[in-house]
Amino acid sequence: MTAKRRVKRRRMRVLVLLETGTKPPDDLESLSEQERHDFKMETDVLTTLEKLGHEVRVLEIKHELAPIREALEEWKPHVVFNLIEGFFGLRELDQHVVSYLELLLVPYTGCNPRGLVLARDKALAKKILTYHRVPVPNFDVVRSGRRPRRAKPLTFPMIVKSLTEEASVGIAQASVVWDDAELDARVKFIHDNIGGDALIEEFIDGREIYVGVLGNQRLTVLPPWELLFENTAPGAVAIATERVKHNLAYQKKHGITEGEAALDPIVRTRLMSMAKRIYRNLSLDGYARLDFRLRADGTPFFIEANPNPEIARKEEFAQSALKAGIKYERLIDMILKLGVRRGTM
Ligand SMILES: Nc1ncnc2c1ncn2[C@@H]1O[C@H](COP(=O)(O)OP(=O)(O)O)[C@@H](O)[C@H]1O
Ligand SMILES: [Mg+2]
Repeated sequence: MTAKRRVKRRRMRVLVLLETGTKPPDDLESLSEQERHDFKMETDVLTTLEKLGHEVRVLEIKHELAPIREALEEWKPHVVFNLIEGFFGLRELDQHVVSYLELLLVPYTGCNPRGLVLARDKALAKKILTYHRVPVPNFDVVRSGRRPRRAKPLTFPMIVKSLTEEASVGIAQASVVWDDAELDARVKFIHDNIGGDALIEEFIDGREIYVGVLGNQRLTVLPPWELLFENTAPGAVAIATERVKHNLAYQKKHGITEGEAALDPIVRTRLMSMAKRIYRNLSLDGYARLDFRLRADGTPFFIEANPNPEIARKEEFAQSALKAGIKYERLIDMILKLGVRRGTM
């Protein structure tokens, strides 16, 4: 969207869909910095929608769909701003809630159900992308309760993850394994403690790069963003563990910072066009963040796609948008409009 083609601003009724427990409390000021941090995306989106002049209502849902239908019938919102990431605490159910919105014929922000399904299963996403010649780490899936068969010739070191979890749940230094004994132990850890199947992948030694994409048909690719690890402990690997991602004190202590990735122009162009290809081939729309590991030889390896990623003002997606000249208010406005005009832009 060029600056010249200013879209006239319309006051809309926006129903913000949240999971119970994620609505920012009124007395936000009394919370600790870390606690406020946990509500930051919801706070930023709600205040910005109001600032944009929209009429905003919040609907918190936990395990019932009826309140969505009732709110739609009663208030007739123009659009649903979807910020839910699960249903009844189960992440893999989020796509069904979005399918329900589709069935109710209400426009909504973010990704469609098909994109959510394809991106959620990290093995399935990589299978599809291999067909489209996107470099992905060699991997295998170990079903819950089974032991790694090592049928595929994977080489150590490897990383063991949950097949479907997000937000670095279950990712720690111990996720990177160097021999069969460590591999077996970590796979068992995923099965027993995180639940569900385990994904084992060859570990890509390289830089941690994120690429934001915005759009339904016409796509905007944001400047590649890098997570920098300044003082990783000796012997530790530089990966986005739970603490690296969410713990403010840990981030400060270990010099975890982020910013626009300084890249060779050829690598940058390749990465950005690869991002578009991935977005399209995984049927994503709305907005998404794609995670890569960039090997020293300049090959970007696709790690995972995150439809409906974190969009707090200070986090990667919005910060890389800002680098591209898209201020936060405009970003939220764009996401909203992509939702309203689903299928047409
Ligand atoms: N194959 C891999 N090689 C190197 N690092 C990896 C690999 N897979 C995951 N990681 C590290 O683990 C982090 C979390 O993995 P990811 O698959 O993105 O899970 P999540 O959905 O929890 O973000 C990544 O950001 C990266 O730092
Ligand atoms: Mg990730």
